[in-house]
Amino acid sequence: MASFLRQDQPAAPPAWFVSLAVIGALYVAPFLFRLVTHLSLCLRRPKDLRRRYGAWAVVTGPTSGIGRSFALELASQGMNLVLVDLNAANLREISDTIRSRHGVQTKTVVFDLSSVATPQGDKAMARLKEAIEGLEVGVLVNNAGVAKPGAMYLHEADADAWVRMIKVNLWAVTEVTAAVLPGMVERGRGAVVNMGSASSEAIPSFPLYTIYAATKRYVAQFSRSLYVEYRSKGIDVQCQAPFFVATGMVSRLSETSRLTLLLVAPTPDAYARAAVRWMGHGPPLCAPNLCHQLLWCLAAAVPDPVHDWLRLRANLHHRELFHTRSSTPS
Ligand SMILES: NC(=O)c1ccc[n+]([C@@H]2O[C@H](COP(=O)([O-])OP(=O)(O)OC[C@H]3O[C@@H](n4cnc5c(N)ncnc54)[C@H](OP(=O)(O)O)[C@@H]3O)[C@@H](O)[C@H]2O)c1
Repeated sequence: MASFLRQDQPAAPPAWFVSLAVIGALYVAPFLFRLVTHLSLCLRRPKDLRRRYGAWAVVTGPTSGIGRSFALELASQGMNLVLVDLNAANLREISDTIRSRHGVQTKTVVFDLSSVATPQGDKAMARLKEAIEGLEVGVLVNNAGVAKPGAMYLHEADADAWVRMIKVNLWAVTEVTAAVLPGMVERGRGAVVNMGSASSEAIPSFPLYTIYAATKRYVAQFSRSLYVEYRSKGIDVQCQAPFFVATGMVSRLSETSRLTLLLVAPTPDAYARAAVRWMGHGPPLCAPNLCHQLLWCLAAAVPDPVHDWLRLRANLHHRELFHTRSSTPS
């Protein structure tokens, strides 16, 4: 009888199998968590941004790429817009497009953000402050950013190019945020979205774009601390850190990374739809595009030295491409 019972009992799985199953579950859990969070957000009714935050949004860099799509998406939801960029003609074009498509109000401010902390930059900042005075600015999107001079060793580019990048990508973000926050604090509501990058958050290094990634790390840390600082004042601060989005900024890479871009780079419109949905939701650091979220989980499973090797290889390819292009007479 006893031997009959013993035969019928299922054999306990071996320890190695249990260990592998636990490790597998630990790897899969973050994927599932992100998938469920994303799906639940898609099912939730989108926020009424005007009612939640206020009637106006300030968007920097709205004349092309992600900023343009972001501005159009906000306008489609009834937000009036203050558009900040360096080229007056491009600003007029996007402003007209927004007004004719969505019937909202717009204001434009010509501001070369790389001029912050100069007399010319101070004048532009004064124009921005004047433009938003008396407006119920509920949303700020610090989108403008530069990746030029592209893939290079640190010693290869002029110091001026790095300074320009640092000024646009981090210094201007800081000054514009400081200019917009007082009104939000006064009204006790608002949302700030700062464009970071997965290059500084999801992977351990981004060689040959070192300054770019470092400026984006600043943006992430800046946003994280502001999130804590201003949460109790009714202001949602978020850093959105996408992988590739198919804009002019990455178009030069399409020759070396065509397949990657095709698979993982959403159009700016698709990105902006997800980005606006994520405003005020979820963690202060996020990747609103589902494909990017899954990539983020995958990246976490790859050892750092493998990332370092792969990125250096890929970015050396970009450098070759940029050098060939810039040495080709136009
Ligand atoms: N595309 C990606 O794969 C990707 C990935 C991660 C993060 N991001 C971040 O997302 C943001 C938008 O990128 P994007 O791909 O849309 O870039 P983009 O197509 O090059 O657009 C950048 C925008 O910023 C404006 N801008 C540049 N320099 C400026 C300055 N000195 N003063 C005022 N405005 C300035 C540009 O104006 P002009 O057109 O007149 O130059 C343009 O409207 C950036 O912060 C970028 O770092 C992009």
